[in-house]
Amino acid sequence: APPIPPAVSPASSQPRERAKIRVRTLRTDRWWLAPLLTVLGLVAWVAYATVRAFMQKWYWVDDYHYLTPFYSPCVSNGCVPESAHFGRVLPDVWFIPFAAFSLPFLLLFRLTCYYYRKAYYRSFWLSPPACAVSEPHTKYTGETRFPLLGQNAHRYAFYAAFLISLINTWDAIQSFHSPGGFGFGLGNLILVGNVVALWAYTLSCHSCRHIVGGKLKHFSKHPVRYRAWTFVSKLNGHHMGLAWTTLATLAVTDFYVMAVSAGWFSDLRFVG
Ligand code: FES
Repeated sequence: APPIPPAVSPASSQPRERAKIRVRTLRTDRWWLAPLLTVLGLVAWVAYATVRAFMQKWYWVDDYHYLTPFYSPCVSNGCVPESAHFGRVLPDVWFIPFAAFSLPFLLLFRLTCYYYRKAYYRSFWLSPPACAVSEPHTKYTGETRFPLLGQNAHRYAFYAAFLISLINTWDAIQSFHSPGGFGFGLGNLILVGNVVALWAYTLSCHSCRHIVGGKLKHFSKHPVRYRAWTFVSKLNGHHMGLAWTTLATLAVTDFYVMAVSAGWFSDLRFVG
């Protein structure tokens, strides 16, 4: 086989010029489909979540103690007292969501997530929209300057998201309730399923993988961290799928709680 030429000419140490191609891409497949679906999916989800976060009703089912994750923890004076597991400290005004302590951190966590970055850089910023498709921008500074430099805050957002996953877990445990005491219905399956998916997404985070297994010189001297890192690494391979799965489980959980709370249909009860 002929030798592969180096990317940089050793004589000049200058990068080779790019091939002059007049068309934007030579790809003939439907490369635009993935970015288009991403835009549609994310816009639909953000629209739904925004409406729900500011609706300030149908977030709590008193009989069964179901609390939607969009209102957790419920910390506004407007929250139903039983739904406020961690106290009510914020004023009840229309422009402050009832879960104003958690929603900004969750937004930051998702916005700075390595997968979502890829998704919205490609789909919204078109930088580039797909492999081997040139981007419309002429300059590229990546994440080296403000505001994208802020993407480095992801590791801190991870700690907040971890804490919020603990709170969601507490909500799911609290929801095994009926007017007579212990109870269990379809809502519990949905709430628990959502929490399991949220944990899988949170633990599959690239920052989590680094926290668990990074900065070690010898895995052999840290067998527990090695096992944890191996587990997190397996999850990490599914990070994109988990990112979308959790958007779906969050929306389904919220919709179910809203529907039962509003009386559109009743919860399917197995016990209590
Ligand atoms: Fe996606 Fe951390 S990389 S949540």
